[in-house]
Amino acid sequence: PKISLSIRCYRDLPRDGFTNAPDSILALTERQLHQQPNHPLGILRSLIQNTLSHYKHLSAPSPIVSTYKNFDELEFPADHPGRSLSDSYYLNEKTMLRTHTSAHECDVFRQGTDKWLLTADVYRRDEIDSSHYPVFHQMEGACVWDDTHKDAHTAIASELQELESALKHTNIVTTDETINNNPNNPYQPTHRSLVAELIVKHLKMTLNLLVYDLFKHVQNTDNQPLQVRWIEAYFPWTGPSYELEVMWEGKWLELLGCGVMQQRTLERADVGHKSGWAFGLGLERIAMVLFGIPDIRLFWSQDSRFSSQFEAGKISKFVPYSKYPPCIKDVSFWVHTPFHENDLYEIVRECSQDLVESVECIDNFTHPKTNKNSLCYRINYRSMDKNLTNEEANDLHASVVDRLTKTFDIEIR
Ligand code: PHE
Repeated sequence: PKISLSIRCYRDLPRDGFTNAPDSILALTERQLHQQPNHPLGILRSLIQNTLSHYKHLSAPSPIVSTYKNFDELEFPADHPGRSLSDSYYLNEKTMLRTHTSAHECDVFRQGTDKWLLTADVYRRDEIDSSHYPVFHQMEGACVWDDTHKDAHTAIASELQELESALKHTNIVTTDETINNNPNNPYQPTHRSLVAELIVKHLKMTLNLLVYDLFKHVQNTDNQPLQVRWIEAYFPWTGPSYELEVMWEGKWLELLGCGVMQQRTLERADVGHKSGWAFGLGLERIAMVLFGIPDIRLFWSQDSRFSSQFEAGKISKFVPYSKYPPCIKDVSFWVHTPFHENDLYEIVRECSQDLVESVECIDNFTHPKTNKNSLCYRINYRSMDKNLTNEEANDLHASVVDRLTKTFDIEIR
């Protein structure tokens, strides 16, 4: 593929033992799907902005951030698994592709913005299936109040009244499995418990309203209420922390993580005199439900049969065009030295780009006598835009097998 100027800039950064971001991923930094007004992600972004219209919408900075911004500034412990090379893309030890929009929280707070939203592309190494892609989009939102002002809690309380009356017009059933000041997810000692409780209420009500506003577009016709659930969670820079889920097709679907900003983090952003909350939600997950999009790869499709279906400001159901037949190929091998599965997925992606639909480990067997370990992966090759011939799939598979044997200490069976 054509190497653009920005990728050349990234590649000019000094490389080291951390460098693991392939050009194929760097190339995706230019797509900016959430900025396209007629793209499902752009439509969803505007919808949320309209719902939370009194929050300032900020444009996203470059996805290349320091590891300090992505992790340390947010109190991530040194041994947090998110930091590992198998989970994140690094340009080098000090520079990476952001793994979440929270990487920009401190900068935004430092600028003095109190109520804001920020949407951006984020990057994570992960498995390959219909709901995972190495690039996806998040929206970060936050709300802080000047706590030194002696009437801070009256301000919050009056906003709560407005939220409460807006919630009266919704058809929503909330199951709250969280406990106020739970010893395992406590209020912060520096917060007066009254203020902490008000902030938590404001957070939960704001997000209940937001989720209702989004899901009302796909609510069933028999007028069943929308079911949402709050559960306890953990994030290093919030306390207490929560996750919000919504009942969709009989299952709880996780939508977002959030919590009360750690005072330590706000101090680091030079706004220790303020307190409030933050959330981060994944756009693809919600867009797949609202638009009925069955495969996350479709968001990246440049086929007009996809893009021509959507229009700014409208939630419409995706009409699938013919699905081409899958080409299923297995690869089995003996493992001499263990490797991380995400490294295998990366190789499959690099060899086959968006022609791979899923990769699944279908057999893991250890020989009882020799103690040798054997793995078998099933790769489903399928194009969304054209018919993939068996020869083309064989070529892709051969290049995958070749790369696997060159990269890992394995023996093909
Ligand atoms: N960044 C978190 C994630 O990606 C979500 C989050 C945002 C949690 C803000 C708390 C506060 O999962």
